[in-house]
Amino acid sequence: MAILPILTHPDPRLRLKTKPVTVFDDKLQTLIDDLFETMYAAPGVGLAANQCGVLLRLSVMDCSDDKTQPKVLINPEILSTDERQEMEEGCLSVPDIRDTVQRYNKLRVRALDRNGQPFEMDCEGLEAQCVQHEIDHLDGKLYVDYLSSLKRERIKKKMLKLKEAVAG
Ligand code: NI
Repeated sequence: MAILPILTHPDPRLRLKTKPVTVFDDKLQTLIDDLFETMYAAPGVGLAANQCGVLLRLSVMDCSDDKTQPKVLINPEILSTDERQEMEEGCLSVPDIRDTVQRYNKLRVRALDRNGQPFEMDCEGLEAQCVQHEIDHLDGKLYVDYLSSLKRERIKKKMLKLKEAVAG
């Protein structure tokens, strides 16, 4: 397993369209293991493949307190939702920043597991929020897109400054 570099906002690669997964081979299993290792090391509760530059509709998550419930979402789609509510959110691609966005508190999602087997899952709270956040990633969206233009500009400037600092 390996820890993969995570792309950070405003990297244009985070905005590219991802393709459905059709091949469930050893290469995919290695990618999934690497995404989990990268997510747990960060640490984070979710990570989409395209945050690591792989343009596939694949995301890993684990919203449990003790990090014992790894979940793989491949080609996910939301089947039903209830009402939206305000939730605080962050993203490994927008480090050290959190803000409030509107998310569905409950939803039902359909996806394929790591072996290509379809399943459906009811999610609530953090897990529901995470599913929406991850599907947004796969659609080239970031949670900062939901914020005011003033906030978005401020975050973008902060991120660019951070990148300059890293680049030396
Ligand atoms: Ni994210």
